[in-house]
Amino acid sequence: MTQGSLLRQILEYENRHDPYPLYAELRKTPVLNDGDGAYVVSTYHEILSLLHDPRVSSDARNMTRAAGPDLQQQEEETALPPSFIRLDPPEHDRLRRMTNTSFGPPHEPRRVHEMRGELGGIVSDLIAGIGSTDRIDLVEEFSYPFPVTVICRLLGVPREDESRFHGWADTLAASLDPMPGEDATERNKIAQKARTELGMYLAGLIEERRRNPQEDMLSELATLKGPDGSMTTMELLSTAALLLIAGHETTVNLITNGMLTLLRNPDVLRRLREDPGLSVPLVEELLRFEPPVQLVPNRTTLADIEIAGVTIPKGASLWLVVAAGNRDPLRFKDPDRFDPDREDIEHLGFGSGVHSCFGAPLARQEAQIALSELARRLVNPRLLEDPPEYRRNAVLRGPRHLPIACDDIMP
Ligand code: HEM
Repeated sequence: MTQGSLLRQILEYENRHDPYPLYAELRKTPVLNDGDGAYVVSTYHEILSLLHDPRVSSDARNMTRAAGPDLQQQEEETALPPSFIRLDPPEHDRLRRMTNTSFGPPHEPRRVHEMRGELGGIVSDLIAGIGSTDRIDLVEEFSYPFPVTVICRLLGVPREDESRFHGWADTLAASLDPMPGEDATERNKIAQKARTELGMYLAGLIEERRRNPQEDMLSELATLKGPDGSMTTMELLSTAALLLIAGHETTVNLITNGMLTLLRNPDVLRRLREDPGLSVPLVEELLRFEPPVQLVPNRTTLADIEIAGVTIPKGASLWLVVAAGNRDPLRFKDPDRFDPDREDIEHLGFGSGVHSCFGAPLARQEAQIALSELARRLVNPRLLEDPPEYRRNAVLRGPRHLPIACDDIMP
């Protein structure tokens, strides 16, 4: 198999249900140049080192046209500045610090901590609302509405507007997938339109919260005055859009992948039912074993970087395949085994370094509550399709539907 064809196979939809054998193949060349300019890195230590390397930029303005979609142009056309996931320090740090004053962790677990009871309530209501136990689509009935309700409440987006940004979030998530050798113009146009519409929607909401502040994060960020100053309206718009999308398309996959993995490992499911505390190490192992973000595609080198015997030239685009790094046998013992008792579990599921996932404390808590409650309340749950149908996305990978059945639902 040629290197280029290996990459294409990984992106091909028919391999979405199990890309792991292809990742094993990919790791034989830890730093692979696909010939289109992108360098694909698939081994744990190399990915970690690049995630911490200040010569690696996340700033879309450093991306050359050849290296990926022209995000700078995209952002100019939509008049939205890049959010902090696409900025380097010190601009990144200032915006992340400001956003954190309202969110909490790691400095102060306030908002996420306060939400624990509320999260349990949302989970209970969703489980109570499950229709027939003969066929439950876990995605539609549970894993999707749960984190979406949470992120809406956190930010202060009215729940009735959710269906509007559902479409925008899906479009923007799809636009993350690399398209080697293909013309992405049409797809970028659709993504721009979604970004503009989401921006306009949020601008109206922010305006409203400035006039009439509530307890939510959007109100707090709109009225924030701290050591880093205040956010401009444009910065606030980009930050809110980032949180909304990031809180939308990732946790749903963690919960769905989690239930799928538990149903494939009934001993672990039984243990979780008896001991909800197992959910803590179990969610970490899931983030290693089936990470919702499979690869981090948006990096550019600011200098020549030598790694694993390869010199990645300045200006190259990097894809860091964290899902392959998480199964690297040089880092994890027996990596293809799902083992919640694993002690050494520093996975790359939330990235690492300055851009490591901002929402990790929330996502962990959501997944822990969701999986332990599903394990406790669903009596004799079983998969109706294995493998289930997957979403098209290669970057944000997860089942589109997860049909299951159970005998009963406990109160
Ligand atoms: C299981 C769920 C989640 C996973 C697997 C996940 C994964 C990730 C990963 C891999 C990154 C690093 C991206 C990079 O290095 O370029 C990241 C960044 C980020 N995530 Fe998450 N995420 C999840 C949930 C959330 C939630 C719920 C939120 C919002 C509340 C969130 C907000 C963010 C933000 C704002 C960043 C950018 C951080 C920065 O640039 O400093 N994520 N996430």
